[in-house]
Amino acid sequence: MIMEQPLDGRRAIVTGASRGIGRAIAEQLSRAGAAVALIARSGDDLEQVATAIRTGGGTAVPIVADLGHDDPAAVARQASDQLGGVDIVINNAAVLEPLGRSGPDIDPLAWRQSLEINVTAPAMISFALLPQLLAAGWGRIVNISSGVAAHPGAMVNGNAYVTAKAAIEGHTLNLAAELDGTGVTANVYRPGTVDTAMQRLLRTQDPDKVGAFLPERFNRLYERGGLIPAQDSALSLVRRLPDPGNGQILSVSDPVPR
Ligand SMILES: NC(=O)c1ccc[n+]([C@@H]2O[C@H](COP(=O)([O-])OP(=O)(O)OC[C@H]3O[C@@H](n4cnc5c(N)ncnc54)[C@H](OP(=O)(O)O)[C@@H]3O)[C@@H](O)[C@H]2O)c1
Repeated sequence: MIMEQPLDGRRAIVTGASRGIGRAIAEQLSRAGAAVALIARSGDDLEQVATAIRTGGGTAVPIVADLGHDDPAAVARQASDQLGGVDIVINNAAVLEPLGRSGPDIDPLAWRQSLEINVTAPAMISFALLPQLLAAGWGRIVNISSGVAAHPGAMVNGNAYVTAKAAIEGHTLNLAAELDGTGVTANVYRPGTVDTAMQRLLRTQDPDKVGAFLPERFNRLYERGGLIPAQDSALSLVRRLPDPGNGQILSVSDPVPR
């Protein structure tokens, strides 16, 4: 007998699905029954994720795109065409850089590019897909943020990243208010401190370039076993998708339905 899964028949797009939290979310969505479009720049990594999902009996469509350069709305439409529609949008892709002292040490183009990838692309993807979500009367938009949005002063020398995470939360909660009562929800997810390439990048920063604060803080956290596995964070989000509320700042530390 085949067990019904909570997201059977749903179609999801996940940005930044080539590794880390995005990959884990895509895998957990597939286990919960959804077909997934996987978006990132690294084609070989995406193929590996897609193969793993298909081997487990799921449906996965890899789409190579650079959300800092390609048109995010066109990427969203391509994903929708390939899946035959979209019900769930997980805007997870983000970059940490540029890191360093604000002012001459930060390349203004890199600062703008960070906001393009971390804020503008998620908004444009959601806007491109909203008409079909609204027409269906059911949809889930989740924008991945960070706990740093609640403590903007805590990540010294990470001005672009912190600005972006604060902005994505404002964007999401405002959109949620607009969507109230439509069946389409928009929520933020703060995934916790997760053992990924982004965390490695923080630990391996050159103190001469970015200051000692960031690498010291994140190395201490790593050494005391303070990182959580990506699959745990992903499962915590995916379990909530059937009934996530609207306009919520969801966090990995919240209780999760079984
Ligand atoms: N890890 C943590 O502790 C932590 C904590 C709080 C919040 N978060 C958030 O969680 C999310 C995932 O983080 P992570 O730790 O899994 O990071 P990660 O390991 O660095 O993965 C980032 C993902 O984004 C993709 N990406 C980056 N730039 C892109 C671009 N221009 N176009 C398309 N895809 C792009 C990367 O793929 P390609 O390189 O293949 O393009 C990769 O799949 C991010 O929103 C991050 O801010 C993470």
